[in-house]
Amino acid sequence: MKRVITYGTFDLLHYGHINLLKRAKKLGDYLIVGVTSETYDISRGKLNVSQSLQKRIDNVKSTGLADLVIVEEFEGQKVSDIKKYNVDTFAIGSDWVGEFDYLKQFCEVVYLERTKDISSTLLRKKANPIIKMGVVGNGKIAKRFIKESKYVSGVDVSCVYGRNIQHLEEFCKSLELNKYYTDYDEFLKNVDVVYVALPHSLHFAFCKKALLAGKHVLCEKPITLSQKETAELFKIASEKKLILYEAIKTAYAPCFDRLISMAQSGIIGKIKDIDATFTKLIENKNSREFDVSLGGGSLTELGSYPLLVITKLLGTNPKNISYVTSIDDEKNVDIMTKVFLQYENAFATATVGIGIKKEGDCIISGTQGYIIVPAPWWKTNYFEIRFEDLNKTQKVFYRFDGDGLRYEIADFINAINKGTKTYKLTNDESLFISDIIEKFMNRKSLKKNIHVI
Ligand code: CTP
Repeated sequence: MKRVITYGTFDLLHYGHINLLKRAKKLGDYLIVGVTSETYDISRGKLNVSQSLQKRIDNVKSTGLADLVIVEEFEGQKVSDIKKYNVDTFAIGSDWVGEFDYLKQFCEVVYLERTKDISSTLLRKKANPIIKMGVVGNGKIAKRFIKESKYVSGVDVSCVYGRNIQHLEEFCKSLELNKYYTDYDEFLKNVDVVYVALPHSLHFAFCKKALLAGKHVLCEKPITLSQKETAELFKIASEKKLILYEAIKTAYAPCFDRLISMAQSGIIGKIKDIDATFTKLIENKNSREFDVSLGGGSLTELGSYPLLVITKLLGTNPKNISYVTSIDDEKNVDIMTKVFLQYENAFATATVGIGIKKEGDCIISGTQGYIIVPAPWWKTNYFEIRFEDLNKTQKVFYRFDGDGLRYEIADFINAINKGTKTYKLTNDESLFISDIIEKFMNRKSLKKNIHVI
């Protein structure tokens, strides 16, 4: 029996795929089709596949051409599949000519001519026209965001809103953007969705206006500085059937998702303690981060990250919250803050600093072991699961490409196309983080649960 194998994503199965499968089948007597898993697609930078793995497998099966459907999960799997299934011929479309010649040492390699004028990308574009995104603000993060958006299909950042014409001109020139606006209403009329990257204290007003104008919003963290304001924004978004995302990039990174799933699987027993730290020394004391009127300070600047991992694993209902903080005498912002959260059956510490440096790792402790994510854990690409018996240590690696903003952008665009948010950062989790920040901002009224040094 001659065995043939082929691979693909097979998203939105089309006649190009069917032509390929028919010809591959004719090369032998038994056809094996490898369908890429979601995580494998993400790891190779294919971020906008629209159908689930199960749906894509079902579609391939429904052609009646495959004798066996398998899942392709990792780079290098083709070699082991060829050996495992005693494959005689590897077949793939001509868009891959040369790419798989290395498999010739294991079997025959055939490149079949690709069917013209059809692809999943084309079908996705037809189903979901390109989304026109405008960026609010022209600072450092806005710049990085625009560069990262180029890795996500289905979205085009077309313009920027700001106040300073000279800065806007330089910004547009360096990023090859066509248009800038200094009038927010005008800007909103010309975009489908907005990304808000302004100082924290301005998020609420700019998000609210965009939502009221019917635009989907991706807002930098922290989404607002109070739970009430965050709740108001989510209410408007829900009433107007709009997608509102808080841009905590870690939440959408594939390795972080894996970390949370593994921690929740019980592998380290019951989770009892989380200790997560993020410090970033800011030397310029005249910067936004040291400006109290713009919502500056360690907790507003960095608190979202450790609070994210804590709320994902321990929930949104701590029994007690207390703070220890060190305030800069001159600027009146916190240069380091620790938030202690006491839950029914667990406790956690979030430590952040813009004026004091500390190792930035995250340790999740359980009754049977612990997970350590080394610094910079918020750019999650690696973690270790450790036990009393060191021989049982597991190391998990995953890609975190570029600045990692591409994952949140892709998730946001998918959510708009599907009309619903993912589980990766829920409204309740954002509301919880806003609440912790708000309580700290109003620290004078805390009396007992705050210690200021
Ligand atoms: N294929 C083909 N003709 C097409 C499209 C795809 O022969 N018009 C082949 C590919 O060469 C590959 C298989 O079908 O061997 C699965 O390809 P896949 O990447 O899933 O499909 P595309 O439509 O190319 O997807 P995308 O646009 O997302 O790259």
